[in-house]
Amino acid sequence: MTSSRLFVLEDMFQFNHIVMDPLVEVYTLPFLIPRILEHPELVLAADAPDNRLIAFILGTREDATESYGAGKPVSWSHGHVSALAVAHDYRKQGLATRLLTTVRDMMDREKDFYVDLFVREKNTNAIGLYESLGYVKYSWMPQFYADDHGYEMRLPLSRDVGRKSLNGIRINKIYSFGNKLFYLLMFYIFGIISIVIGGKLIV
Ligand SMILES: CC(C)(COP(=O)(O)OP(=O)(O)OC[C@H]1O[C@@H](n2cnc3c(N)ncnc32)[C@H](O)[C@@H]1OP(=O)(O)O)[C@@H](O)C(=O)NCCC(=O)NCCS
Repeated sequence: MTSSRLFVLEDMFQFNHIVMDPLVEVYTLPFLIPRILEHPELVLAADAPDNRLIAFILGTREDATESYGAGKPVSWSHGHVSALAVAHDYRKQGLATRLLTTVRDMMDREKDFYVDLFVREKNTNAIGLYESLGYVKYSWMPQFYADDHGYEMRLPLSRDVGRKSLNGIRINKIYSFGNKLFYLLMFYIFGIISIVIGGKLIV
């Protein structure tokens, strides 16, 4: 039986086996420490029965002012999941679901409007996990990562009765589609150019 608890700074000395995964964002200490200290209640760890650290989630809170169409700008705080990782031998047992649900419930109680996070486009397991919990792809972010495109995914919380936090989604979908088309077109043009140049070199 695994157990969850608050993450403590000492955990950073024993979480390398979890974060050294190409799909986990590895942050520097100057990034991590202020965030952990600002909202320690949103940073959780899970231990195996032998007390080995096997999972963690780094939740944060941000203030934002956004405006939609002609409407007045709305100020709200929203939760953000900065990092989530589960040790290989404890995956597919519902651990990430449990951590995400606990953090989401805390953000809901604190009246955050929504939770968001960023995920690599190729990380289909994580995207499946988030979608199973109600997150939706809010925007596609070309080259967000050095080696991949990304998505911002959002989950409206109960304070966001009108699901305003998803309002920009249609615009984002058109933008994403345009961007993907652009990449496809570039790929196609450069492919033709390299075939032509390659052909000339052979001749
Ligand atoms: C993504 C990750 C956090 C999932 O953790 P987990 O504890 O295995 O997830 P859960 O057991 O709660 O999975 C819940 C759901 O997510 C989806 N899912 C998770 N892992 C999956 C996999 N390997 N293949 C397919 N679906 C998967 C499924 O819908 C699953 O529901 P199911 O078990 O009923 O099929 C874990 O694989 C991990 O640490 N990956 C590397 C780091 C990472 O990608 N972090 C997220 C960065 S944004």
